[in-house]
Amino acid sequence: MNKPKYHFFVCNSFRLTGEPQGICNKKGAPGLLQYLEEEIIDRGIDAMVSSTGCLKQCEKGPVMIIYPDNYWYGEVTEEIIDEILDALEEGRIAENHLIT
Ligand code: FES
Repeated sequence: MNKPKYHFFVCNSFRLTGEPQGICNKKGAPGLLQYLEEEIIDRGIDAMVSSTGCLKQCEKGPVMIIYPDNYWYGEVTEEIIDEILDALEEGRIAENHLIT
């Protein structure tokens, strides 16, 4: 298996029981996950997407992290995903959406 260049993690608020019950999930993270997957394929970005349990930034949810750069983005929407991916493709950071 080739390792992807980027790994995106989208909080889906999974609890230990496996149930998604937190803020990110309630704020639409499942739809974002699908949107992100489709955008990555459409844009041909070498990346993998995973959903996670709570990333302890609930007040900034939905939260998305990009590795290996360790960029943490908050209050993510489909429009913001577009901005983040545009920036990534241009070698920039979507700084106005970073969690600081
Ligand atoms: S539920 Fe997403 S950061 Fe806590």
